[in-house]
Amino acid sequence: MKALLLVESRFGNSRAIADAVALGIRERGAEVTVLAPEEAPPAVGEDVDLLVLGAPTHNRTLPTSSTRGQAVAMGAEPGGDGVREWLSNGRLRSGLRVAAFTTASGRTVLSGSAARGAARLIARSNPGVPVETRTFVVDGLKGPLQEGEVEAARTWGRDLVEAHP
Ligand SMILES: Cc1cc2nc3c(=O)[nH]c(=O)nc-3n(C[C@H](O)[C@H](O)[C@H](O)COP(=O)(O)O)c2cc1C
Repeated sequence: MKALLLVESRFGNSRAIADAVALGIRERGAEVTVLAPEEAPPAVGEDVDLLVLGAPTHNRTLPTSSTRGQAVAMGAEPGGDGVREWLSNGRLRSGLRVAAFTTASGRTVLSGSAARGAARLIARSNPGVPVETRTFVVDGLKGPLQEGEVEAARTWGRDLVEAHP
């Protein structure tokens, strides 16, 4: 099994989750490449079985250039395009498995979810592609991740492979 994990992160929390998910995936014997969306090819290779997308929740959904600017004003490193822009590039191959995670400040519906935002974007141009979503929680607006979230991410990575070896 081969996975591609694309992660956007402004304060490093989503990146830490991505690394833990990748560790879990590798622990179950699968291969995974972790890239920023701006470094990723526009189409997922034929040899990739699982695509995992990760992004922080901004204004209840996927970051935009405007919310990334707000993050920079709060001290984040400036960065390029993210998951939203990568998804706008086109269609996903049918049969590709897709999972999306987010980091967010709260667990309530009111917090929103960039993972659900990604799932909605995917559904628009790829009807019938199911997207498993997952939220990992940070303290405050910049993190750090709450206790246990990195380990939970590693377990989720293992589960993603076990569900579809
Ligand atoms: C501009 C901006 C908007 C945000 N909006 C939300 C939000 O609507 N809901 C939420 O739970 N967290 C919100 N947050 C907190 C982010 O989810 C948090 O910064 C992120 O999980 C940290 O991940 P990162 O280190 O990968 O950037 C917001 C943060 C920023 C900078």
